[in-house]
Amino acid sequence: MDIRFVAAGSGDVLAVMAGEGGELLASAQALDTATGGRLSKAAKAARFTGGPGQVVDVLAPEGVDFSRILVIGIGKLDAANGLAVERWAGHAVKRTLTSGAEKLVLQPEALPGVSKADAGAHAALGARLAAYRFDTYRTKLKPEQKPTLTTVEVALEGPAAARARADQDAAVVEGVFFARDLVSEPPNVLYPESFAERLRDLETIGVEVEILEPATMEKLGMGALLGVAQGSARPARLVSMKWNGSSSKNAKPIALVGKGVTFDTGGISLKPGAGMDEMKGDMGGAAAVAGAMKAIALRKAKANVVGVVALVENMPGPNAQRPGDIVNTMSGQTIEVLNTDAEGRLILADAVWYAQDKFSPSAVIDLATLTGAVIVALGHENAGLYANDEDLAQAIISAGANEGETVWRMPLSAAYDKMIDTPNADMKNISGKPAAGSIVGAQFIKRFVKDGTPWAHIDIAGTAWKPGPYEDPLSPAWATGYGVRLLNRLIAAKYED
Ligand code: BES
Ligand code: MN
Ligand code: ZN
Repeated sequence: MDIRFVAAGSGDVLAVMAGEGGELLASAQALDTATGGRLSKAAKAARFTGGPGQVVDVLAPEGVDFSRILVIGIGKLDAANGLAVERWAGHAVKRTLTSGAEKLVLQPEALPGVSKADAGAHAALGARLAAYRFDTYRTKLKPEQKPTLTTVEVALEGPAAARARADQDAAVVEGVFFARDLVSEPPNVLYPESFAERLRDLETIGVEVEILEPATMEKLGMGALLGVAQGSARPARLVSMKWNGSSSKNAKPIALVGKGVTFDTGGISLKPGAGMDEMKGDMGGAAAVAGAMKAIALRKAKANVVGVVALVENMPGPNAQRPGDIVNTMSGQTIEVLNTDAEGRLILADAVWYAQDKFSPSAVIDLATLTGAVIVALGHENAGLYANDEDLAQAIISAGANEGETVWRMPLSAAYDKMIDTPNADMKNISGKPAAGSIVGAQFIKRFVKDGTPWAHIDIAGTAWKPGPYEDPLSPAWATGYGVRLLNRLIAAKYED
């Protein structure tokens, strides 16, 4: 889909804005006046109140150069921010994508808290995100199920400023789509080796990619990661992606680490069958890291960033590890594996250690679909944030809020840490009590963070994909790509020259 900024748009469908109470904004108002009150009449008949995502679909009256006009609510104008404009544009695309229309014109307006140029840039971003589809395996789509929309014009005078921002945003969208694609791919297609090969492609945009195979991991002492992988016929991979965009080439990078379980059966501690297919998304952390690397490379971020993803399949094969096994980690610490379904923390133990050992980063952030417990705590609205550093925590919270990928801070403490002590090894991988499950997972990973290294862990089990009929115009597929926008914004705000 093509996005253009033009002074005055023309096309099949025009989308205009309305605020709460049904108040038509400037262009909508002008159009209403020019058509003898057609828009306000239609809005009244539809009981339109201008709430976010409410739409009045008007067959364009004579004298208007469009076949349809969509009056779309943006909610309370005083509270409307860039994200509200993105959703507004998203609803317009959602309505038109497969409607037969080929060309949509978005008419952004200046809002109390958003300039017109910013509104234009956000509209373009929202339109792009909303147009995502994952149709790779649908060979029998009927014509009416196929997208018809090919062009979106954002109508804006003096579009240069908006265009400059939109080019950067387009890079981020590529990163989000990369993450969504990876999470959506079925687990027979996306497994550690094929995942690593897709990451290899990032070399074409200037990312340095290194892929470790099991023999090397064995030499490095990654017994926890390899222990998870040993039940599967698919060998593990550990992939590093390096982007050295800072003008100080030797400046310490920030390290992003991702959990990449391409399928999580639970292993010998087998999961129940119902809904197990969702565990193809258990590599959402690795996908977010990969998507962020793609975004920052495409927009040539002036920062040094390294992404490390641990890729395994957790299967109950004949060589699978058993509950009770004790494994060695690269850090030298030993782990008693009491539940093979708490595998994310096992692979992260080695990946987080490796990232610090190899790259001496200035900070480490790991993302993982780590626990069902974080869904119990926060649902699908916020990811769980853990951090040992206040500045880093605040920077992540504000990056998430700005990008609509919100996090909620969760606690860490010695009392929770004690819950993974065991007489049999340095630690066990579950507490054994049905309490504070997401926190216990975070405490476990924290044991592999070196003293003095700022670290954050984001439990994205509730946000990497959305269950059932969740309505989000910016994320039309099951996979959300959660984390890419947050990480990209964090790097732009805190780590760029
Ligand atoms: N991948 C799961 C966590 C998960 C659950 C992600 C639901 C997305 C949706 C993780 O590996 C897991 O199985 N965690 C266990 C931990 C438990 C055994 C301590 C869980 O949450 O039940
Ligand atoms: Mn598991
Ligand atoms: Zn898992």
